[in-house]
Amino acid sequence: MKYIKGVHRHGSETFLIVSKNKKGLEPDSIIKTSTTKNGIDSIISEYQGINWYNNLSKNKIDCNLDKKTKTYYRIEIKLNKGFFNIKTNTSYQEIRKYLDLTINHYIKIWYDYKNKKYSPFHGDLSLVGNVMFNEVNDVLFVDWEQFDYSSKMPTGLDIMMMIIENVWYETLRSNQIPKVVLKHVKNSIQNLIKAQLLSPLLQEKPAHSTLNFINANIEIWRGQHYKLPVLKIPKEYINEIDNAFSN
Ligand SMILES: Nc1ncnc2c1ncn2[C@@H]1O[C@H](COP(=O)(O)OP(=O)(O)OP(=O)(O)O)[C@@H](O)[C@H]1O
Ligand SMILES: [Mg+2]
Repeated sequence: MKYIKGVHRHGSETFLIVSKNKKGLEPDSIIKTSTTKNGIDSIISEYQGINWYNNLSKNKIDCNLDKKTKTYYRIEIKLNKGFFNIKTNTSYQEIRKYLDLTINHYIKIWYDYKNKKYSPFHGDLSLVGNVMFNEVNDVLFVDWEQFDYSSKMPTGLDIMMMIIENVWYETLRSNQIPKVVLKHVKNSIQNLIKAQLLSPLLQEKPAHSTLNFINANIEIWRGQHYKLPVLKIPKEYINEIDNAFSN
């Protein structure tokens, strides 16, 4: 059984089809298709990103790119069994463990980019949705539609965006950045620096530099930058993150 899950999801120009197995219980693959230039570019990026990741990750993603015609592309992605998403609106306290697992996974996968100013970029590493986990604490990065291999993206940008995004969600719940959260953010950034996976471009005022870089390069998101949660966080919180980091 197949059903269309979404059309032009968040302004994306791909269709998402979920395909279930014969018994029709569990989804076993997803299919993304597009007939527009931007959508086809996203499908190609997804394919390149998954292949790049498969060379480095213990858990591989099985996918198949089908160029139906010059203007109709299709990618089928088999779902890795046993991996789950974190529920939306989970408190920072509860996602801490998953943030740590994600940063450690990033450190493993991006190992060859230690001390490099630029490195490949996932582009949409949102903890809820595009990072998955299993019972034995393996991590799987999915949804590579924004993958960028041009080597113009600062190393560690994916993680900085993820950290800021989750701080913002926490401020929506508690109207402030709780002290424990600031402490965890500081430790996380320091861990990235210790692993030599935060670009010198982002080491001075990491939160400000992250936002400045995104704002100066919004074309990378193919017109979808407006949906980036990280751009919605008020300036005062960005100051707070950088102050905590420098103290
Ligand atoms: N390799 C995979 N293994 C297991 N689940 C996966 C895999 N790839 C994607 N998924 C699941 O399918 C969901 C949708 O896939 P993906 O994130 O690639 O599409 P999307 O374009 O972002 O759609 P959405 O807007 O629904 O997130 C993911 O959030 C995840 O739950
Ligand atoms: Mg997604």
